[in-house]
Amino acid sequence: MTALKLVDAPSHKLWGGRFAGDTAPALDAVNRSIGVDFRLWPFDVRLSKAWAIALWSAGVVSVEESLALEHGLDAVANRLRAGEQPVASDEDVHTLIDRLLHDEVGDVASKLHTGRSRNDQVATATRLWSMDACATLDTAVRDLQRVMLAHAESLAAANVLMPAYTHMQRAQPVSAAHWMLSHFWPLDRDRARLGAAGRAAAVLPLGSGAVAGCAFPISRVLLQGSLGFAQLSPNSIDAVSDRDFVAELLFTLSMLAIHLSRLAEDLIIYGTSEFGFVQFGDSFTTGSSMMPQKRNPDALELARGSGGRLLGDLTSLLATLKGLPSGYNKDLQDDKRALFDAVDTMLLVLPGVAGALAECTFRADRMKSALASSMMATDLADYLVGKGATFREAHGAVGALVRQSEEAGVELHALPLKAFKAAHARFGADVFDALSAVASVERRETEGGTGTAAVRAQIAAAKVALS
Ligand code: ARG
Repeated sequence: MTALKLVDAPSHKLWGGRFAGDTAPALDAVNRSIGVDFRLWPFDVRLSKAWAIALWSAGVVSVEESLALEHGLDAVANRLRAGEQPVASDEDVHTLIDRLLHDEVGDVASKLHTGRSRNDQVATATRLWSMDACATLDTAVRDLQRVMLAHAESLAAANVLMPAYTHMQRAQPVSAAHWMLSHFWPLDRDRARLGAAGRAAAVLPLGSGAVAGCAFPISRVLLQGSLGFAQLSPNSIDAVSDRDFVAELLFTLSMLAIHLSRLAEDLIIYGTSEFGFVQFGDSFTTGSSMMPQKRNPDALELARGSGGRLLGDLTSLLATLKGLPSGYNKDLQDDKRALFDAVDTMLLVLPGVAGALAECTFRADRMKSALASSMMATDLADYLVGKGATFREAHGAVGALVRQSEEAGVELHALPLKAFKAAHARFGADVFDALSAVASVERRETEGGTGTAAVRAQIAAAKVALS
């Protein structure tokens, strides 16, 4: 949100009766969380409406009072939706809503806080916010996966091959679609984790009061149903201080950020002039203020960089939680800084990466010319195994051939047949077929391999994962 209006309004504290003096401005400044938690207002209004009904069904307020509270909360929501901003004296979002509710309905507003505390309130609102965020994040991840799938399908249709790398050294030829999908499945796991994080959040703390539960006979089951929670928290002391769900979501987002960072790194490397496998588009790259030729993959670099930021959010929350005594402690107010930062960052990064990837053009010619025949050394050893040699013996013979080709400064396939025969008696004239990248790829048809049919099956599985 934007900076708070510094006009001061009469203070509307939710506490203060036991104090003779005013709070110090320095305490107000450090204590005030409205700048962070303002965005919880739709969820706080929702849970407050459910609470107004719960108070009526518990016989705490009359039906007229309950209706007045509900309508008042709707009016508050309308004002906030229309852009009403907090004032400097609003300590947090709960105080703000309480102040506006008094403004709308007068004294009856004072009945709403019966039996509840900001401790169970903020835990409930943060959980509702997180459940909503998990759904939004899931959509954004799927959007990126769709871009990957579209690329994989067209790369597979064109039978594009490229080197796969281990230790960043050319290893074996693979289908480019297979490489693209190697970034799809980590995101599939991230989506499963997002689902789990959403379920972890869907446990209702409301009704736990400040720490010991609620003295009025409110129906927590009714609250659970009306607010869309899957379960009730089983212990009020735990409920007001449990932020596991935040940690789980932050871990999920850190993992997602790591996956995006690895994808970004691949694309950045493949986009260098040295590799030239990938050409970036115009709308997700930037130029240089000095070097007119530059086209920089900023969206990808920012995605890579944001990994550090998200790891920081996770670490900061875990450090806050560690060593807290049981029950609510004000340290917990900081959970939302980390949570909101991580989710906001991800919701900026995901469309940036999806856009940058969608704009990438894959250069089949450059990928093909990077396929050296030494990358088929394993196929050559497999060829000897097919002719009855043991793999160990074959590995040694092929190793010697690779050394010879390196010494002669030629590709493996450029060595004469007699060199092959000298390395191992079982080499025949068909050895050169074993040195074909196409044949190498086509031979790998086990599930999850790079063979044409295996990749076709993988694409079908990816479609199912997105459906
Ligand atoms: N702003 C607080 C938070 O985010 C709300 C809970 C305050 N509870 C209290 N007892 N002061 O955690």
